[in-house]
Amino acid sequence: MRYGYFDRKNKEYVITRPDTPTPWINYIGSGAYGGIVSNTGGGYSFHKDPQNRRVTRYRYNNIPMDRPGRYIYIRDKETGEYWNPGYQPVQRKLDSYSCRHGMGYTVLAGEYRGVVGEVTYFVPDNKDFEIWHLKVSNTRAVAQKLQVFAYAEFCFWQAIMDQQNVDWVQQINQGRFEDGIITYYPHYISDNAAFFATAEEVGSYDTNLEAFMGKYRSEGNPLAVEQGGCSNSISYRMNGVGAFCMDVDLGAREEKEIVFILGFAEDRKNIKADIGAYLTPENSKAALDRLKAYWKNYTGKLSVETPDEDMNLFVNIWNQYQCKTTFNWSRFVSLYQLGLGRGMGIRDSAQDTLGVMHAIPGEAKELITKLLQCQYTDGRAYHLFFPLTGEGGQGDAPVKLFDWYSDDHLWLILAVNAYVKETGDFGFLNQSVLYNDKTTSATVLEHLDMALNFTNNNRGPNNIALAGRADWNDTLNLDTGKGIAESVFTSMLYCRAAAELIELCGYLGKQELCEKYQGMFDEMRNAINESSWDGEWYKRAFDDCGQPIGSRENKFGKIFINSQSWAVLGRVADAEKASKCMESVGRYLNSKFGIVAMYPSYTEYDDTKGGVTTYPPGAKENGGIFLHTNPWVMIAEIILGHGDRAFEYYSQILPGKRNDDAELYEVEPYVYCQNILGKEHPQFGVGRNSWLSGTAAWNMVAASQYILGIRAGYDRLVVDPCIPSKWQGFKATRKFRGVIYNIEVQNPNRVSCGVSKIIVDGAEVEKIPVFKAGTAHHVVVVMK
Ligand code: GLC
Repeated sequence: MRYGYFDRKNKEYVITRPDTPTPWINYIGSGAYGGIVSNTGGGYSFHKDPQNRRVTRYRYNNIPMDRPGRYIYIRDKETGEYWNPGYQPVQRKLDSYSCRHGMGYTVLAGEYRGVVGEVTYFVPDNKDFEIWHLKVSNTRAVAQKLQVFAYAEFCFWQAIMDQQNVDWVQQINQGRFEDGIITYYPHYISDNAAFFATAEEVGSYDTNLEAFMGKYRSEGNPLAVEQGGCSNSISYRMNGVGAFCMDVDLGAREEKEIVFILGFAEDRKNIKADIGAYLTPENSKAALDRLKAYWKNYTGKLSVETPDEDMNLFVNIWNQYQCKTTFNWSRFVSLYQLGLGRGMGIRDSAQDTLGVMHAIPGEAKELITKLLQCQYTDGRAYHLFFPLTGEGGQGDAPVKLFDWYSDDHLWLILAVNAYVKETGDFGFLNQSVLYNDKTTSATVLEHLDMALNFTNNNRGPNNIALAGRADWNDTLNLDTGKGIAESVFTSMLYCRAAAELIELCGYLGKQELCEKYQGMFDEMRNAINESSWDGEWYKRAFDDCGQPIGSRENKFGKIFINSQSWAVLGRVADAEKASKCMESVGRYLNSKFGIVAMYPSYTEYDDTKGGVTTYPPGAKENGGIFLHTNPWVMIAEIILGHGDRAFEYYSQILPGKRNDDAELYEVEPYVYCQNILGKEHPQFGVGRNSWLSGTAAWNMVAASQYILGIRAGYDRLVVDPCIPSKWQGFKATRKFRGVIYNIEVQNPNRVSCGVSKIIVDGAEVEKIPVFKAGTAHHVVVVMK
């Protein structure tokens, strides 16, 4: 069943029925102030950090689901009937409804009895506030007397305290109204505040939740709306809201626009000045146009025209957009990660930079620098950090002996190398950056060297990487207190990281470092091949008793995905092993909705494996389709030259393909989700944890850099496609170091990979050079 469609021209996804199987959300804001907006107006806002600076509330695990939110109520003064343009929370059946999720904005539009309410939510110019731009139109030939209510429920800054210490929180917060601005002070003595404002004449207002709602009512039938007016409540304790009521009398076919602004202010005295430039409908519209221009420019850094429309849709719009969101929020705040405990993940954010590198390398560098500051002087790293306070830690995974994950620090090497390739900013490698002790500093290159050294210094009985608390797979907790469990995956990631450092130092002529890393690489590669080849695939790990995991010897968990793809990505497998292990992935792990994480799933709890065995068979890391891992398989297939197979893997998980199947899929068809229940689960095919997943960045990398083969090199742009053999070719535009490359790939002999010649501006060349910034060039790549 369909709930909506892609509007390709306007770069929007349009939802046409409000009762989606889960809230289908969008993000507003650019990583500082912002929030989540669902297709019925549900969601919440925060400033920089959803745990420590929450602006509005959200009730998790709630039925009716997805409340509260940013609500507009429209009331007919004559009949007393009221409704919402976004359907919730009143749930009056609308004569028409739509939700348009665009890049950085959402438009909800509903019509009831000749009145259309349309509200656009967005954050203007990276400010610390959001605009709700409301348009109310009377489509009839007779006048209508209406009232508009706008409503937001405030939250105490510390969202956990808001739930935990009601005694304290509800005695110290207060609300005020003055001059069109409602201010909410979580701490009544503090200068900072949340606010809700309008320049429109306010008929009445409420700052207290109980007064607006009535104590035994809900958002679906608030007392104030039912009575046709707020009670001008000043909140001296309990729960704060921002609620306005104003009369809107519309003549025949007349319309009216009202701007509301919700946000955060460091100093409550400055609110009026801060928002002054945005309160008129004209200024608000101009700000929305600027936002759209920002996204046009952002997505314009890479645009492709391939024979596959779904690929074009995702590479050009939705995948790029999702990558920016994961870059902003890592795995911190979504409908599934509640913005409470997790913070920004080090491994997650390092990988997220790969998905935005082509578009905003400067911002990626800033984030990478923060991540390097999360490293201990011995080279390992925090597992997560909180952006507002800069504090970091290891999170709450089970820990027996180790206080580190075996992989976090290694991803930094991949991120830095990608940054240097994109920008040619080799100076960054010499930049001095503090470690997390905040006193010792080292150059970026030294940080990377320490990262590699840390793993090298922490190896187990098979001479491969110790498992620590876990590796990329958070739920594989193998350490039972002996401290000898090993991760084959981390060892392969280490090989990849070492290979990237060899490439980088080779380019820079740092011969000594090259030799050092080559030695480290060779030793680890040999140790993996000696201990971990299982005949048809690579084992995944060794437990704390030295027993293999992911081996044909095991009853459950015989084969895992990551130690196959990374055997290729890490250059660990020779040609024969590589093709065998990738074939095993296809044979044992693939399914119509994607490749599962391992097979067969564990059926009972096992302390020697930990978290993975707590999930039912087929869920999440226990045999679910953990989508983040799928693009690694695509990349591995491409490295082996298998363009057709890689494209099948790419296509089968494109979210847009599940648009007609949304009843089963449940989550948004315009972004990748983190996991889909696997073939051993009774609900095979159901998606969960939409939006924040490394799936976004890695599919972007797989699609653009490997399938289409357009990637940055230290001194060149590389175009080395590995496409479906039936393609005649494709076109792309890539902005690289300020140069526009208009690329045309021709595939006259219908091959998958291999380039026979490169022609730049009419002349055949060996490599595509970096031209002078500001110029445009035509590149033709002819395949073999
Ligand atoms: C979640 C975590 C990520 C981890 C993955 C697999 O997505 O955020 O860090 O790698 O799960 O366990």
